[in-house]
Amino acid sequence: GVAPTGKRGAAAPHTPIFSGFLNCEDSEHWRFLVLRTHTCGELRAKNVGEEVTLAGWVNRRRDHGGLIFVDLRDRYGVSQVVFNPSAAPDAHAVANDVGQEWVLQIQGTVERRPEGQENPDMATGDIDVIADDARVLSPSKTPPFMLNKDGHVDESLRLRYRYLDLRRPRMQRNMVLRHQIVQFIRRYLDDVDFVDIETPILIKSTPEGARDFLVPSRVHPGKFYALPQSPQQLKQLLMVSGFDRYYQIARCFRDEDLRADRQLEFTQLDLEMAFVEEDDILNLTESLFIKLTETVTDKKIQQKPFPRLTYQESIARYGNDKPDLRFGLELVDLTERVTNSEFRVFSGTVASGGQVKAVRYPGGASLSRSQVDELEEIVKDRGAAGLVTVTRDSAGGIDSPVAKFLSETELAGIAAAAEAEPGDLVAIVAGDPKTVAESLARLRLEVGERLGLRDDVVVAFAWIIEPPLFLWNEDEDRWDSVHHPFTAPKPADVPFLEQDTGAVRARAYDVVANGWEIGGGSIRIHEREIQEKVFKLLGITMADARLQFGHMLEAFEYGAPPHGGIAPGIDRLVMLLAGEHNIREVIAFPKTQSAVDLMTQSPSEVSEQQLHELHLAPAH
Ligand code: AMO
Repeated sequence: GVAPTGKRGAAAPHTPIFSGFLNCEDSEHWRFLVLRTHTCGELRAKNVGEEVTLAGWVNRRRDHGGLIFVDLRDRYGVSQVVFNPSAAPDAHAVANDVGQEWVLQIQGTVERRPEGQENPDMATGDIDVIADDARVLSPSKTPPFMLNKDGHVDESLRLRYRYLDLRRPRMQRNMVLRHQIVQFIRRYLDDVDFVDIETPILIKSTPEGARDFLVPSRVHPGKFYALPQSPQQLKQLLMVSGFDRYYQIARCFRDEDLRADRQLEFTQLDLEMAFVEEDDILNLTESLFIKLTETVTDKKIQQKPFPRLTYQESIARYGNDKPDLRFGLELVDLTERVTNSEFRVFSGTVASGGQVKAVRYPGGASLSRSQVDELEEIVKDRGAAGLVTVTRDSAGGIDSPVAKFLSETELAGIAAAAEAEPGDLVAIVAGDPKTVAESLARLRLEVGERLGLRDDVVVAFAWIIEPPLFLWNEDEDRWDSVHHPFTAPKPADVPFLEQDTGAVRARAYDVVANGWEIGGGSIRIHEREIQEKVFKLLGITMADARLQFGHMLEAFEYGAPPHGGIAPGIDRLVMLLAGEHNIREVIAFPKTQSAVDLMTQSPSEVSEQQLHELHLAPAH
């Protein structure tokens, strides 16, 4: 077998390719390793002549009918090990038997590769390790998919064998990036006096807009804890306690339908500050995000300082409150222009309080009928009745399938308003403002995607500020909080709380990037009188409020400082900075879209006995 050397080879600095902030050259740690002297990623020409011990997985094995070449992999990289049948027959025999993903330990000497055989694509490509000795640490079954490259594999297979999927280069990179991001955040916040405080996972049910996960109490029959949707109330209570800068990398739980950017449990950078106004939170978050992005990634931030758009402006210009600002193609409002149109689809919509808006599709005039039908499907999916198109051909002529209903002046006016160039298509939707906004927002993203305008190297951060405080809930016939009931109204709007409830703006803000909502927060209400008014508008009686939030109301009677905070989603932030389009790619063990863990097969049934102990089933 291989005799562990117990010591590193002569003064070879340990420089793993993933080293982020730790300077491993200074680390004593690597001197004490017994099973390996170096990682598979660190050997270079300067190590030539050294006797080394490596351990890792068989990435690839090639038998040249004499020499056997094994690429040995660990998370730091890959080294090529050469087994020579005449020089080291025992080691060669071991190499002869090993397969893909076997765990191997080898001892050998670092040699410069023969002239012309260097591999510039490999960090260790200048050297070979000539094996003297080899030992199988663990054999492997043939893996269900290839682990030595990032090719497409069915996601359910990946999730079923997640521990193997995590061995692949892409997931190794994503997990390390996630670690680096969290470490950076911790260091940054520690430097500016934030205190990391843990809050409980078993709490009282809190309203954050989603459904709670409940945990039945064994000790108290019929009573339940809830898992936190966020530490919102607790962090506000910590402000009352005098910790004027709190943060936590906090796990949150929400029983909601899953999407590309949603999991049942996810992680927030939850933070709260006392004695602050909006700008304090925005500036701190912004400078953290800029330094983070520029330190741990090579992405380009599109605009600094981040642009700030009011919520209304964002809806008007992009159709939603999380615009992708990597490209323009803003929505064009044609409503006034078509108010008196002969074309009833337009004028009728305007007459009934609707809007007519458009998105320009550069080069879209050459789309076939069926390609235009595809675009129409996209807006219909979001509730639009249909799509009207106007095109400008390469010679500048303007046409439309509904040209017979529109005057030439109208057609020309629409093309001009949309700034259509020769060869462009103008895609128009008429309907109620919500449908128009949502369908055109979707269509705009599609056009941006098709034209390659959504470049993942660019990160277009922005702030969306001053959203409405309340939203009318049609189904329940009442006002709901847009954020949560503790969010403060803009002082200027407080006098209109009762008269013009829907128009009251909140002291809330979201940070968005590339079409994703990355985080949200607000300045909180710390005056009792305003809190009572807000509860009243939400239809929460003071008696209800005492039951639900008695602890908050009571705490606020003992000197609550003005305070506010924000909670960026770590999963979404890492997804963005990793250039991924689904948070499952940056979570080690996520659930599927249908809320199942395919690896452990959860959720799963539990025994009658367990249910009985929790008072959820009768004894038998
Ligand atoms: P909010 O509900 O806006 O605010 O959530 C803040 C951020 O958390 C992330 N997020 C999610 N990520 C993955 N899966 C989910 N299901 C999910 N839900 C939310 C998003 C989102 O922007 N307590 C307030 C914050 C505050 O006011 O300080 C809160 O939780 O990135």
